[in-house]
Amino acid sequence: MAQNTKKISIVGSGLIGQNWSMIFAGAGYNVCLFDVDPAQLERAKSNISSTLQRYEKDGLMRGTGTAVEQSTRVSTSTSLEECLRSTFYVQECVPENLELKTKVFAQIDNVIGDDVIVASSSSCLVASSFTEKCNHRDHMLVAHPINPPYFIPLVEMVPAPWTKPEVMATTRTLMEEIGQSPVSLKRECPGFALNRLQYACINEAWNMYQSGLLSAEDIDKVCYDGLGPRYAFIGPLETMHLNADGIVDYCKRYAEGAVDVQNKTFKPIPTLYDVPTAEKIQAEYNTTIPLDKIQNKRQWRDNRLAALAKLKKEMGKS
Ligand code: NAI
Repeated sequence: MAQNTKKISIVGSGLIGQNWSMIFAGAGYNVCLFDVDPAQLERAKSNISSTLQRYEKDGLMRGTGTAVEQSTRVSTSTSLEECLRSTFYVQECVPENLELKTKVFAQIDNVIGDDVIVASSSSCLVASSFTEKCNHRDHMLVAHPINPPYFIPLVEMVPAPWTKPEVMATTRTLMEEIGQSPVSLKRECPGFALNRLQYACINEAWNMYQSGLLSAEDIDKVCYDGLGPRYAFIGPLETMHLNADGIVDYCKRYAEGAVDVQNKTFKPIPTLYDVPTAEKIQAEYNTTIPLDKIQNKRQWRDNRLAALAKLKKEMGKS
C-alpha cells in the first residue's frame, strides 16, 4: 500500500480517536487529529507513537511502513478548522453525549465542503438524533467501531433516514480499504446489530446463572470454548447452514426442538439492575479477576485478540 496523500480528520483524541488514527495511518493516509484539550492531544500523539512501536516489536503492526513512518503520518491540531481543511473524510470520536455530539456536528457542518463524509463513532446514539439540523446531513452517518478497533475489525455503518446511499457505499469501500470489516444496516435501529446479539446472549447467561444452572465461570466457558471459536470464523446463520444439509434442512430437522426449548423454558428478559445477582457473580470473579487485576486481564485480552487478528489475517478470508 503506497503512501496516500489524501487527508483524514479525526475529531476527539481519546481511546477511539487514537485507534482510528493508527488504522488510517497504517493504510497510508495523512491523519490530522483534533481535540479541545491540547494536553490530551500531546498525550494522544505520544501514545500513538509508543503503541505503534510496541506493535511493530511484537509483530502486530498493521499496514505499510515502519512505526516511525506511520507515526509521522499523524499530525495534531488545536484548530478544528485547520484539522478539517482539505479533508475528504471525518471520523468523530467525542464522548457519547447527545448535546456534545450535536454541538460538534454543527461545528463540523459549518466548516466542511459539500463532498466531505462525516462519520460518528457513536456506540448508541443514532445519527438522526444529532445531525438533523446540519446542512450536510445527507453526508453524515454512524460508523461504529468495536473495542479495540485495531484488532477487532467490525464497523457497524448506520445511516440516518437522510444519509445518501452513495455515502454509505463510499464509506463501506473506505472501511474495506483500510482493513476494517464493515456491515451496513439498512436503517437506524437501537443497539445497532452487535449489541442486539450481545444482549440476547447476556440475557440467557444471566437467567441461567440466576436459576443456579451453571457457575459464572462455566457460562463464560460455554462461549469461549464452545460458541466463540466457531463464531470467530462463521456466524450463527452459517452455522445452521453447515450443521445440516443447508439451512432449510436445519430448520426442518431442528426447528421443533429449538422452538420448544425456548417456548417452554426461556424466561423473560432479565433486569440488569439486579444488583444482588451481579454481586454474586462478582464474588465468583473475586477469586480469579479481583477488581485490582481487571487492567491486567484487559491487557491479556487485548494481546490474545491481537494474536487472533494476526492468525485470521494470515489465513485469509476463505
Ligand atoms: P474518550 O473519552 O476516551 O475520548 C473522547 C475525547 O474527545 C477526549 O480526548 C476529549 O478531550 C475529546 N473531546 C471532548 N469534547 C470535544 C470536542 N468538543 N471537540 C473535540 N474533542 C472533544 O472517549 P472514547 O472511548 O474514545 O469514545 C469516543 C466515541 O467512541 C464515543 O461516542 C464512544 O461511545 C465511541 N466508542 C467507544 C468505544 C470504547 O470502548 N471506548 C467503542 C466504540 C465506540
